[in-house]
Amino acid sequence: MKVLAIETSCDETAAAVVCDAAKPDKRIISNIVNSQAKLHSRYGGVVPENAARMHVETIGDVVNEALKVAKVTLDDIDVVAVTAGPGLIGGLLVGTVTAKTIALAKCKPIVAVNHLEGHLLTARLCYTTDFPYLLLLASGGHFMFVEVFAVGHYKVLGETLDDAAGEAFDKVARMLGLSYPGGPEIERCAKDGDPMRFHYTMPLLRSPGCDASFSGIKTATKIHIASMPNITDLDKSDVAASFQNIVTSFAVRQLSKAWDMAESLPTRIVLAGGVAANTVLRERVTHFATHMNLETYFPPVSLCSDNAAMIGWCAIERLNAGFGYSKSDFKTLPRWSLS
Ligand code: KG4
Ligand code: ZN
Repeated sequence: MKVLAIETSCDETAAAVVCDAAKPDKRIISNIVNSQAKLHSRYGGVVPENAARMHVETIGDVVNEALKVAKVTLDDIDVVAVTAGPGLIGGLLVGTVTAKTIALAKCKPIVAVNHLEGHLLTARLCYTTDFPYLLLLASGGHFMFVEVFAVGHYKVLGETLDDAAGEAFDKVARMLGLSYPGGPEIERCAKDGDPMRFHYTMPLLRSPGCDASFSGIKTATKIHIASMPNITDLDKSDVAASFQNIVTSFAVRQLSKAWDMAESLPTRIVLAGGVAANTVLRERVTHFATHMNLETYFPPVSLCSDNAAMIGWCAIERLNAGFGYSKSDFKTLPRWSLS
């Protein structure tokens, strides 16, 4: 089964051709991602209307490139898959209209994919990861702990009550005058910094459950920065390192609470989303997993952040699990929860 997949829910215009090969390394035939980061860096974050315009301008080239790299034409494709939500409505409409048009013109079946489910199943695209597993999805728009029992069977154990972790990285980067996306910039800046210089209170200390909150950390960072009118590069490195330290320690603290809450006693921990690229987070999750005798599955950075290969793979998983194709008039859903 060859799937042409399209992803345009945020600031990446992406298309991929994937198949259901038994070996994980044979499944991605092409995977093209056109990042809009440069466009959005001027504003320190994604401007939805600009993102939608850019998707319109590039989607045709990106789809053609995915087909060209895969050495296939639309006639060779068996199924079209597309992100139908959640995300920014303008971008989602560009992707879904493109996918519906291709499906209609070429008489191909279509699968409308939930972007979050794409992230959830990426570990099974890259590795032979069995169910059940406990997943931390940490991206620019989401921060949640999900118990993944089977395809289509998920339980959200906890999620952020305010900002997503990636959003906090982006906003703090902006406060420090670093460019967008802020996560990699903060990580780079933090390398020479002192992670213990600035004090933070651990969020939600007395709350039960494994929800998260990053707005207090963000405000505390703003206060630390404001206390240094003549901030130096070294000060900035210390702020970045201290911020990264509290965010990653908090994430792993909540991960441990999520594991306690999971019903299926999962022996596997999976990371997904752009923030999963963070080395300190990976090290801390590995440390926790080793201590608990759990396996870890961290997809490569290129597949942790938004891409269309995960959308195509999600469609394959859903079809193999018997969920069937979508109706050709399916709705685009800017809000679409997992359960
Ligand atoms: O999953 P993703 O590509 O897009 C969304 O669905 O949001 O995640 C993008 C987010 C951005 O906020 C970016 O700053 C963050 O992931 N990010 C990182 C790192 N690389 C990307 N955050 C922390 N450390 C990183 N190395
Ligand atoms: Zn995403």
